[in-house]
Amino acid sequence: MDIRSFSIPTEIHLGAGALEILPSLCGKRVMVVADPVMTQLGFTERVCGLARQAGAATIVFDEVEPDPSQETCAAGAALAEEFKPDTIIGLGGGSTLDVTKTVRAVCETPGATVASQVAAGYNPQPRETGKITCIAIPSTSGTGSEVSRGAVITETTAQGPLKRILFTGTPDIALLDPAVPATMPSHVAADSGYDALAHAVESVASVESHRVTQALAAGAVAAVFANLPASVQETGVTTARNEMHVAAAMAGATMRAGLGLCHALSHQLTPAFGIPHGRANALLLPHVVAYNGQAAVERYTDLAARLGLNGDQPVASLVAALAKLRADTGIPASLQAAGVTKAQLAQALPHMVANGAKDPNARTNPRQPTPDEIERLYWDAWEDRRELAHAH
Ligand SMILES: [Fe+2]
Repeated sequence: MDIRSFSIPTEIHLGAGALEILPSLCGKRVMVVADPVMTQLGFTERVCGLARQAGAATIVFDEVEPDPSQETCAAGAALAEEFKPDTIIGLGGGSTLDVTKTVRAVCETPGATVASQVAAGYNPQPRETGKITCIAIPSTSGTGSEVSRGAVITETTAQGPLKRILFTGTPDIALLDPAVPATMPSHVAADSGYDALAHAVESVASVESHRVTQALAAGAVAAVFANLPASVQETGVTTARNEMHVAAAMAGATMRAGLGLCHALSHQLTPAFGIPHGRANALLLPHVVAYNGQAAVERYTDLAARLGLNGDQPVASLVAALAKLRADTGIPASLQAAGVTKAQLAQALPHMVANGAKDPNARTNPRQPTPDEIERLYWDAWEDRRELAHAH
């Protein structure tokens, strides 16, 4: 028996004006968790206004930082315990959506705290589901948090910050309105767009992928290659940005099949060097695909063909195309170019190698690395050394 399962319980509404249907979706006590930048741009007030149209009382928590901490989630959860929302809306990038999902999970899990959820990790806890409707309104196009079941929260440990993956359940509803990411800065469009690409490319090679997730991933990869450079170059409500917003949700849905070593290793780069999540994936993805090589050769060959890369070395062509797209979107080509010195990497490596091997995303990678191989992948990313030699 080799049964694969797939569901996207999130109800997705996409297209211009999607935000306007909010009054028909929310309840009477609405908590809005927002990025500070969404508040500055007036989106938080607009969302609160739409909730008030439905006769709802509203409260705002807009203190979410990038790579949100356990403490931020706890502050949001404390506000929710007091306000007792029937609807919680996440308005912002992946960090904000992750905090929103974590707060909802804490409120629906009897006796839970953020710390207990972090300790439970990716193991679902018994929950009173349906108590709070969770609505995700992403403002960036890439993390896929609007359709994913987990959240990434940063825990402070004695050894330094550590990214922890929690099971939170998916949002009930996602509103993909192109007006919301229209003002996203170009470098955020590049980094988050590359994150979407990493989700799709990693899930294709995952040991748990299947035809449904592979089809979604192939569609997302094609859309990213076709639209990411234009979405970086031009802000506003553009076709490229709209396509990227939908591609990000498609790629996010493929995470149901698991990711791989790129995410396992990028989760160490962000706390160590402050490199944004999507950019950290961009620095690693070509190297991880080259490393996986033969272990996922059929899946990579299909993907290469989908992109019109029909040469006799499909994996090498795919690796080159991933690196070229990275360059075309203005993302640095190497950890070195991203400002990490050789000495800094050498010092951080033991911690990163140990935690990278333990990251749950590594489990579904098609090739299981030794600690030496992980170390080598970080050095490959440091100098953008791309070769397929060690893939054979
Ligand atoms: Fe990601």
